[in-house]
Amino acid sequence: MKKITIAIDGFSSTGKSTVAKQLAKALNYVYVDSGAMYRAVTLYAMQHGIISEAYFNVDRLVTELDHVQIGFKYNATLGFAEVYLNGKNVENDIRTLEVSQHVSRVAEISEVRRMLVRQQQVMGKEKGVVMDGRDIGTVVFPDAELKFFMTASAETRAKRRYKELLERHEHVSYEDVLKNVMSRDLIDSTREDSPLIKAQDALEIDNSDMSLVAQFEKLYNMAQRVI
Ligand code: C5P
Repeated sequence: MKKITIAIDGFSSTGKSTVAKQLAKALNYVYVDSGAMYRAVTLYAMQHGIISEAYFNVDRLVTELDHVQIGFKYNATLGFAEVYLNGKNVENDIRTLEVSQHVSRVAEISEVRRMLVRQQQVMGKEKGVVMDGRDIGTVVFPDAELKFFMTASAETRAKRRYKELLERHEHVSYEDVLKNVMSRDLIDSTREDSPLIKAQDALEIDNSDMSLVAQFEKLYNMAQRVI
């Protein structure tokens, strides 16, 4: 069976990573969460006083990018690769609302994007990869054999993210989560460098009213047709 590249892009909290992980597992492919990489750079910036609500020292972040080492290590118990920042497992630390509130400003910086896109292209160069993000089908792998673009209403997405954060014992309000989802959508889709747009050859899937099983089956069946 030939190995292909599968790109899954879309708005925040559309459940891309859940279905991408399932798809990668079913196909015996590698799953790469590119958003985790932008989140890890953001966490570094937060930990080093480079970004806060009122402050963002872009020049300092760019100069320090050499000190930001991002890696993935497969966790057999969880069944997916966790993200590491400078040797430390940060899988949980990068999922907080605070990181979500800063990440889109970090993802606007071209130097950050260049560094991460290069790493993502290396991770996918052997194919057999499912990668999710915002620019995978447009910039990282424009030649991917299969591309999906996931959408859902902002309210549906905020409800999903809110539930996820509560399960992680984060004390957040639904309103703040909705505000964050909408503000990230706006920044991500209007930034100058690699804005979030649907690749011309991507299949758009609105999963507002779709179960996880239905989503998985749709993607899996499409993959079977191409492979
Ligand atoms: O996928 P996730 O919601 O974790 O991504 C966090 C943020 O990282 C996005 O809102 C976006 O600003 C940025 N991102 C990006 N390009 C990607 C993946 C994520 O700009 N390929």
